[in-house]
Amino acid sequence: MQIQETLVQEARRILQANDRGGFTIPTAGLYPFQWLWDAGFTALGWMQFDEARAWAEFDLLFQGQWENGMLPHIVFHRPEPTYFPGPERWGVKRTPPTSAITQPPVVATFVRWMLEQAQNQALAQEKVRQLYPKILAYHRWFKRERDPQNTGLVTVLHPWETGADNSPAWDEALARVQVDPALPPYTRRDTTHVDPSQRPHQAEYDRFLTLLEVYKRADFDQLRLLQEGPFRVASLLIDCVLHRANHDLLWLSQRFGFGHEGEIAGWLEASRQGIEGLWDEAAGLYFNRDLLTGEPIRVGVSASFLPLYAGTASPERAGRLHETLQGWARQVRYLVPSTDPQSPRFEPQRYWRGPVWAVVNYLIALGFAEYGYPQVAERIRQDTLKLCEVTGFSEYFHPQTGQGLGGGAFSWTAAIYLAWSRLGGGEAS
Ligand code: DGY
Repeated sequence: MQIQETLVQEARRILQANDRGGFTIPTAGLYPFQWLWDAGFTALGWMQFDEARAWAEFDLLFQGQWENGMLPHIVFHRPEPTYFPGPERWGVKRTPPTSAITQPPVVATFVRWMLEQAQNQALAQEKVRQLYPKILAYHRWFKRERDPQNTGLVTVLHPWETGADNSPAWDEALARVQVDPALPPYTRRDTTHVDPSQRPHQAEYDRFLTLLEVYKRADFDQLRLLQEGPFRVASLLIDCVLHRANHDLLWLSQRFGFGHEGEIAGWLEASRQGIEGLWDEAAGLYFNRDLLTGEPIRVGVSASFLPLYAGTASPERAGRLHETLQGWARQVRYLVPSTDPQSPRFEPQRYWRGPVWAVVNYLIALGFAEYGYPQVAERIRQDTLKLCEVTGFSEYFHPQTGQGLGGGAFSWTAAIYLAWSRLGGGEAS
């Protein structure tokens, strides 16, 4: 317990050191702005010791919301030279400047959890009333501009939107993107902060940047990009996070009497069917889908377990996922590797191609706990705490050696430690 108390203090210090006056940077140098899904996890971390500060995280995040409802994946609150691509490259004329793509929409779920945990209920309820219409506008944007045909699956336009930038799931879809011969020259900054063997390859970066230029030339016109975008996938991370977020938005609507239950229930029915359509019976897993070819992307990734977190899986499918994870567990020391360790594409140190991520572990463990698998949920929680205790609050971890990888003193890893270490055994959230 002594270790845990010291580490709790250390985790709090990390959030305080990364605080830039109401928003929390993921880590100094590598990620010096506010990122969307980081903000959700980080707010939950703040919630464990400073509720007013936790809610402020969302106030600042929504300063970046566009008039059409879109919530961008980065808000550039103030200039910082240590990151590329910054606001100049995105070219979005807003104050504060932002990127022009989104990220896993975790906010509604974290708002619900924070409301449920809040000691200061008056503040929490006031914040929910302020945030609810903004989140609703964001989720309406997803439906209107990313699933206008009501397929139940959102079209994702950039690997950065999925949060799992260089996942092997995107290899073919990304390789198809022709690098723009007129791509304006650029200098990567990420590899000056982190060992390049832990970051995406240059060929991927050229395509990430090409997509950015394509979208800029299209003036970020979403409906046009749905027809013409050179990269279009359905991402389990986005669809499962959005499904649960809509479920939690509906819960908030009911509880506060906002009156949008019918509209949200319609979205939920479509996305339940969409997600369940990604199941692969032979593999015992869910797969992402390439929307340009219509084909499943047959590589197991950590997001393949997230239909448990979404709550869309049947008990039978949950049982198969449990068996699949047992197979993965025989290959690695720490759960959950971001790629199936039996896949030839597994790279245990390279960003989203193998390492363990505390935030994804949090969502997967919650899913297993809710489906009646408390032992595996507790194993994932213990592995995550152990990784932090042994190697510190790294951005991600080597699933075999436990080595800390990527950025250090990382906000969302510290936040998960705070949220999880306050629990005793047997609980996952
Ligand atoms: C990066 O720059 O690595 C981010 O993941 C993009 O948001």
